[in-house]
Amino acid sequence: MTPCPILQPSPAAFRQAADILRAGGLVAFPTETVYGLGGDAENPRAVAAIFAAKGRPSFNPLIVHVADTAAAKRLVVFDARAEKLAAAFWPGPLTLVLPRRSACPVAELASAGLPSLAVRVPAGAVAHDLLKACGKPLAAPSANPSGRVSPTTAAHVAAGLGDKIALILDGGPCRVGVESTVVGLLDRTARLLRPGGLAADAIEALIGPLAPPTEELHSPGMLASHYAPGRPVRLDATAARPGEALIAFGPGAAEGANVVNLSASGDLEEAAAGLFAALHALDRPEFAAIAVMPIPERGLGRAINDRLRRAARR
Ligand code: TXA
Ligand code: MG
Repeated sequence: MTPCPILQPSPAAFRQAADILRAGGLVAFPTETVYGLGGDAENPRAVAAIFAAKGRPSFNPLIVHVADTAAAKRLVVFDARAEKLAAAFWPGPLTLVLPRRSACPVAELASAGLPSLAVRVPAGAVAHDLLKACGKPLAAPSANPSGRVSPTTAAHVAAGLGDKIALILDGGPCRVGVESTVVGLLDRTARLLRPGGLAADAIEALIGPLAPPTEELHSPGMLASHYAPGRPVRLDATAARPGEALIAFGPGAAEGANVVNLSASGDLEEAAAGLFAALHALDRPEFAAIAVMPIPERGLGRAINDRLRRAARR
C-alpha cells in the first residue's frame, strides 16, 4: 500500500484533513501529549475504522477531542468540579470522564457502550485549527498500533500506521510526550483513572483528593457488566427461537421487527459500528433473550465477539 502523505499545517492541509474526516476517513494529528488517530466521533463507521486501524481485539472507550469547553458541554454534563478543572487546565493534557448527555451525538461505539464519555480540549495550534476546520468532535486514541508505544512525531505515526490512514498532519515533536491525565467525575468521588501529562497535585489543589479508580473504571473496555443487556444473550444461533430477538450477520439472514442485521453484506466494520445500538434496541422486556448469529473471528470480528461473549457470560 502507498504510505500516506505527511502534510505541514497550512490552510490547504486543514481543508484536506477536514474533508477526509467529514467523509468518515482517518487523519493523524499532533496534540501537546502524543499524536492522535482522529475520526469523526459522530460517525459510527469512522469510530469503527479507528478500532480496525489500531488492531485492538476489544473495544476500549476513546477520548473525544473538542475545540473548546462550550463544545464539550454539548456532549457531556458538567458539574462544579468539571467547571473548575476545565477553566484551569483546558486547553491542556487533562481528560474528563463525565456522563453523556441524553442527546449526545457521539457514536455509542466511542464510549464502548458506556453511559459516560471522555472529553478533552487539546492544546497546540494544529489540533485546535483542525477541530475548528472540521467542526466535529474527533475521537482520537494515540496513533499507534495496539500494544506499541505512543507516537510523539509524525514519523512514528507513519512507521506504525502509515498504510492504514489517509493523512498525517505534522506538528513536529509533541511538547508533553505522555498521554493526558484522565479524571473520572461520575459521582461524588473524583477518581484518577490514568496518570498523565498534568500532575495529579495540580488537580487535587482545585477539587480535593483524587481516589484510585474502581475496577470498572480502571479498565472500562474489559468488564463484562458494562455491556450486559438485561436479557440473556445466546451465542452461535442460526435463527431466533420463539420469543427471542436476533442479532443477525451477513446476507440471507432472517428479517423482521425482532431482528437487527449488523451487516447484510458481511462487513465487520459496519457490524462494529452498529453493535451497541443493536444491543440497546433489542434489549426489551418483550424478548426472552437475544440470540446472536456467529461473527467471523477476524479483524474487528474479534472485538465484536469479545464484547458479545462478555454479554453472554453474565
Ligand atoms: O493524550 C491523550 O489522551 C491522547 C491524545 C491523542 O489526546 N489520547 C489517548 O486516547 O491517549 P486513548 O483512547 O488511547 O486513551 C483513552 C483512555 C483510556 O485509558 C481509557 O480507558 C480512558 O481514557 N477512558 C476513555 N473513556 C472512558 C470512560 N468512558 N470511562 C473510563 N475511562 C475512559
Ligand atoms: Mg494509547
